[in-house]
This record gives sequence, structure tokens and C-alpha cells, in this order.
Amino acid sequence: MSFNVLVLGNGGREHALAWKLAASNSVGTVYVAPGNGGTADLGGKVVNVCDLSPSPAHFEALQKFAVENSIGLVVPGPEQPLVDGISDVFAKVGIPVFGPSAKAAIFEGSKTFSKDFMAKHNIPTARYANFDNYEEAKAYLQKVDYQIVLKADGIAGGKGVLIPTSQQEAQEALKALMVERQFGSAGDSIVIEEFLEGDEISILTISDGYSYFNLPPAQDHKRIGENDTGLNTGGMGAYAPAPAATPQLMQRMDQEAIKPTIDGMRKDGLPFVGVLFTGFILTADGPKVLEYNVRFGDPETQTVLPLLDDETDLAQVFLAAAEHRLDSVDIKLKENYFSTTVVLAAGGYPESYAKGDVITIDTEALPENAHIFHAGTVKKNGQILTAGGRVIASSAVASTLREAVDKAYQGVECIKFDNCYFRKDIAHRAFKAAEKSAANSKSITYAEAGVSVDNGNLLVQKIKQKVKSTRRAGADSDIGGFGGLFDLKAAGYKTDETLLVAATDGVGTKLMIAQETGIHDTVGIDLVAMNVNDLVVQGAEPLIFLDYFATGALDIKVATDFVSGVADGCIAAGCALVGGETSEMPGMYPAGHYDTNGTAVGAVGRNAILPKIERMSSGNVLLGLASDGLHSNGFSLVRKIIETVDVQWSDKCPWDSSKTVGEATLVPTRIYVKQLLPSIRENLLLGLAHITGGGLVENIPRALPKNLQAKVDMNTWEVPEVFKWFGKAGNVPTEDILKTFNMGIGMVLIVEKQNVARVKELLAEANETVYEIGVLCEKPDGAPGCVVENASNLY
Ligand code: AMP
Ligand code: GLY
Repeated sequence: MSFNVLVLGNGGREHALAWKLAASNSVGTVYVAPGNGGTADLGGKVVNVCDLSPSPAHFEALQKFAVENSIGLVVPGPEQPLVDGISDVFAKVGIPVFGPSAKAAIFEGSKTFSKDFMAKHNIPTARYANFDNYEEAKAYLQKVDYQIVLKADGIAGGKGVLIPTSQQEAQEALKALMVERQFGSAGDSIVIEEFLEGDEISILTISDGYSYFNLPPAQDHKRIGENDTGLNTGGMGAYAPAPAATPQLMQRMDQEAIKPTIDGMRKDGLPFVGVLFTGFILTADGPKVLEYNVRFGDPETQTVLPLLDDETDLAQVFLAAAEHRLDSVDIKLKENYFSTTVVLAAGGYPESYAKGDVITIDTEALPENAHIFHAGTVKKNGQILTAGGRVIASSAVASTLREAVDKAYQGVECIKFDNCYFRKDIAHRAFKAAEKSAANSKSITYAEAGVSVDNGNLLVQKIKQKVKSTRRAGADSDIGGFGGLFDLKAAGYKTDETLLVAATDGVGTKLMIAQETGIHDTVGIDLVAMNVNDLVVQGAEPLIFLDYFATGALDIKVATDFVSGVADGCIAAGCALVGGETSEMPGMYPAGHYDTNGTAVGAVGRNAILPKIERMSSGNVLLGLASDGLHSNGFSLVRKIIETVDVQWSDKCPWDSSKTVGEATLVPTRIYVKQLLPSIRENLLLGLAHITGGGLVENIPRALPKNLQAKVDMNTWEVPEVFKWFGKAGNVPTEDILKTFNMGIGMVLIVEKQNVARVKELLAEANETVYEIGVLCEKPDGAPGCVVENASNLY
């Protein structure tokens, strides 16, 4: 069944909406009130209703028009009619409206409201305060220790915004506003807001009040002049998706701002139907919300609508949202496409400019996939005339940003009118980022392709101090060079008696739990533990460590947390973090995922190398050191069991009520270095086994000669609840669980009987929990290297 649609407004945004809605099979006629020269010329299904505009004076007439013309959906373009309550006008006669109620449109009307809302719902935004008293504002300014902007309340269009760069300038600006009243009464009430530095991103979100869909992130160009200089405008051009909004940042903007906004409005009794426009600044501290609008952006709409897949029926999407059932429709985007819009303005805009000039458009010369969207135009006597400041725009879609920009500018060439002005640098920020990236020999990939060298440098800045805290004798841990040096002599080693030992290892699928729970600062400890424990079992002292962190799109916060964990691990192991590599490889990993690997190098005296197989004999004692939980093995099984029993990572942990399931499984691998080195140095140990994949049964024999067998008695320690829980929940056969998990013992020591007391004493000094878990005995031919007794009835 088809229905008619009524679009309200007369800008470029409304032209783009009418164009896309007319492409919908379910739409009969698209009426545009009042429309512009472009919608007048669209032809086919699109009809202008020139004598009606969305001002309160016409609300009644619009309602009547809608009833008489079988309108099945109203799409208001601008914010003012929404604030004035136009949605409620149509709601009264039962016509669905894709736009918020007057109540929900309050975001647009009141900065105080939206700031309070963000504070209440923990949505990151610039710090701010409101003043109508000069002395109080002055005192506040003296207190703040960050750069600020001053805004005279009630002045639109970006005028009345001052950006002082020093305390003195700030005080002068405040005086100009509030005392000298440079902007008249607008300066009676002012806002002092934190200055946010970074790329500006607009996200348009289609919402039905419950569920929502984010359109691709767009970057507008608000200033009139090239290089973002001069006066503020409504927007001189845009491109999307903006590479600065990496998938990771998109995820953060979505989870930290958009979702809490949609949910918060509903919880506050103002469910939001329509398009929420969230303006972000991507600051070094993450994305922060600059503003909300309750309508489509202009020129963002002309930029993002052409990115919708041809199969997506926009009229059905809007209707579904208006009827609170957005999840009943499919919204698809053209994958791997970029879009760019260049706005042509009348010379003089945003100040005074001429109207009534004739516009000619050579449509024949338009490149494929380019569109012309009118804004300030009218059709008179068959001619298109200029009628506003932002006159018309050229948009184009292509498979690279460069191509989309070039095509949009080819479209610009097809449009002629007197005193036409347009910016020639649309998308310059993306290209500058790309150039910088190309100039850096380490990365020849363009920012356009998703790699940001700036991010990489920022990461190094952020982690430098933390990494420095791992310095030790022999290494200063100053990262940023080509490689890490270690001075063995300075660390007290006799160089001719010393051997170097190296180990490399990763963390495995435990990383997926970090990624799913958003806890990134502990897996770095696992990474170090897996490597240094492998060194210590060879009798070596870990000296230096290097990590590798690979991801599809670098998220500074995630990477910083991760490296911070690596540094914590290094401190615990007494080794220096002397370098690493962060690799950003777009497309290599799914969004939000990363992999890691580490390398540790240690030193061991020629005579201290473990194991001392030739000295081992029947009767030697096996000491076990307690583990801290699952450590880094068996996580494929862990994840499978969690999935099967339908427990969420955020649920309270069944075996440890002080934690969530995610936190309890992520407890990092115990590092057994500092507690073992004293026994190693006193030559008290014959061998060590790090219990990783394969469990006790497979790891202990790795330290034994062929003729000896380890006999482990499970009754000598209490198996921790975590293993019992997983064993039971997964109904895991005993034999399998013994080969998958450490069962509570993370390190096994092989010690001559007469040395046991001294080893225990040294371990007690280091606060280790030690169990005497078994002995070595002669191994019959063909028998296994380790037998476990009393392993039945574990759970
Ligand atoms: P890159 O540009 O990735 O080669 O890194 C520049 C410098 O920062 C090098 O000296 C690296 O060793 C150091 N670095 C980069 N990422 C890390 C990391 N994840 N951990 C430690 N150092 C790092
Ligand atoms: N282009 C910015 C806006 O629509 O508000």
C-alpha cells in the first residue's frame, strides 16, 4: 500500500529528503511545503506546496492539507517547527510524524537542559558554567586551569563566541561581553565552556525512542574560509564517513553518548522519535559531546543519504520509527563508499548577499553518482534564481574519498551564477591526516584507509611515563628509539659466564574476554607472565621485555590500558620494558579486537641452568605454588562453557561473589619470578615447571629425565572453586580438565628432600603459598611422565 509524504522546509536538507523519499516504492506523492527551486524541478512524484510553510501561523492549514491529501507520514526538516510543537499538530489527527514532540525537542531550545541531561546520564561533554553576574564569572575564570570559550547566550550562528588563549585574554573578553556589552543584552547571560580540541564529527541517529540507527559519521566545514577561517556559517561542505571517526571511536561515541542519550530521554519520560544530531569533538581524552540538535543536519543530510543502499526504503524507515518499531525495518549502507558535499554560497554570505540571480545547471555534464541539491533557490517563470545565502550544493559518492571529492567539485563546475562562492578545500582535514601519514616512512597508508600516525604518536606520549617506571639496573626504559639496549655488566653479570635466554608467547583467546568486557589493563600482565615464567623455569632472571600490539583501528584508551598492564607485569617481574610495536592494520581484525605477543630476554649463569636432569632421582620432592585462577590457558573451553550455560560476563560470579564473571576469569596470570630467584641463586632447585596448556600432567614431564615419573596427589591441596565450577558446568571429563587447567597450581618445583625446608622458608618470606604435592619415582617403561592420584570426585 502506498502513502503520501509531507516534507516540511525549504533547504538543501529537505531537497535531499524529498529526493530519497521519492525513490521509495511505497510512496505515492512527496509534497514539500514550501520547498525550493530544486524540489520544484524534481518532477515525477515531488510536488511543492509553495503557499504553506512550517510556521505556527500555518500549523492549522498544514494539518488540514495533510488530512485532505491522505498524508501517511510527515517529515519536518528544520528545528523551529519541532520546538513549536508541529509533531503534536499531526499527532492530534493521527498522522505519523518522523520528528520529536515539543517536549522532546527541548534539547534544541535549552543548553542548560542538555548540559544537565548529560551530567545526569554521565555523557562526556565540555565542562561549563552559566553566569549572569560579572563578578562571579570573573572569579570562576580565575579558577579554571583549562582553555575556555565564552559564549554570549542567545546569539545564534556562532557569533558571540570568543576563544581567548590566555587568562588575560579571557578576562578581557569577559569584560567586553558583560561590562562593555559588545553584543548588547546578549552578554547579560553568558556561558563559560571548556575549549575542546580535536576533529568535529556529526552523527545523525534515526531513533524510534527505543532502538536507533547511526548514519555514517560526517565532518562539516562550519567556517566560511578555507583552512577553517573566518565567520561561522550553517556549513560549507561535508564528507562521510570521516576517517577521523575510526570504528573504535564510533563505538565509543555510540556507547558513551548516543545510547545513553536515547535511553536517558526515554527514562526521563521524553522518548525521542526522529533524528538526533549529536555534534562531537574527538579530543585527546576521547569523544565529547558539543551539542545536540533534534533534526537532520545541513549539509550532512545531503552527504549521508546518498550512502544509503538503494534497497533501503527511507519512507518505510521513517514510518517505522514514528510507529516505535524501527527494528521491523532494514537499514543498509553502501559498503566501502565515501560521500562529499560542496556548498555554493552567494558572495558575501554569511553577511549580506544578493538574491534573485539566475542559476544555470549543466546537468548533462554531471558525473555519474553526483547530485545537485538546492537550498536557497526558487523557481520563477521557468528560471531558477538565488534566494538565500547557501544557494545550492553538489554531492557525489565514490569508492574513495579522493574520488568523491573530485566528483563533487566536477559537479560544482556544472553550476553557474553571479558571485558564486565555495570552499575549495572540503575534506582537507582527512587529506592532511593522510599526507602526514604518507610522509611518515613507517606508515605509507592513508588516514583515509584508517591509519592514524597522530594516534600512534599520542599513544607513545601517553605510555612513556608508565613505561619509564619499569627501568632497572642495565636498562633505562626510555622508549621511542629503534630498539632497547641492556647492559649486562651494569646488572652485575659476569659476561663470560652468562647465557641469554629468550622466550616469546601470546595471551590467546583470553583477549576476547578483555575485548568483550572492556577491561584492558590486566591482559598485559598475562602477556608478561606467560613469557617471564618460561624464562624463570630455565633458571634465568628476566631482564628485558618487548610487546607487540596489533589492531584494526587504534583506540588510544584501549592501547594505553593494555601497555599499562604490560608495564605492571614488567614491574612485578623486575624486568625493563624497553620497546614494543603498535601496529594499526585496517581490516585485519574485527572492530574492537586486537592481538598481542611478547618477547622476554633473560640471563642465566652457565652453572645455574635448569633443569638439572642428571641430578634428579627418585624421592625428589614436588612443591606446588598456588595459582591465581585460570591464568592464560583453557579459554576456548571457558568461553564455550560460559556460552552454553548462558551466563553473561557482567553477571555476578558464581564462584566469587566479589566479582563479575568477566573480572573473575580475567584475573591475571601469577608471575613467579621474584619469589623463585632466591632459591635459584642458592642453587636449591633441580627443576621448575610452569603449568600452562596441558596442565600438570603435560608440563611437569617437560622438566624430567625419561626414567623418572612425577606422582601428584590431588589431596594435598584444595582445588579452587573456579575449576570445580567450570568442570561441573561443562560436565568436563576429569582427564580433560587436568590437561586444560592448572587446577590451582601454577608452578611446580623439583627439590631434593634435604633442601625442602630451606626452599619453603625462602618462599614464605616472599608470601608464597606452597604445597608438597608429590614425589619423583622410577618410571616403568611406557608409563606416563606424570600420574595424578585422587583425581576422581573433583566436582
Ligand atoms: P612505533 O611508531 O610503533 O614504531 O613506535 C615508536 C616508539 O614507541 C618505539 O620506540 C616503540 O618501541 C615505542 N612503542 C610503540 N608502541 C609501544 C608499546 N605498545 N609498548 C611499548 N613501547 C611502544
Ligand atoms: N551542519 C550543521 C547543522 O546542521 O547544524
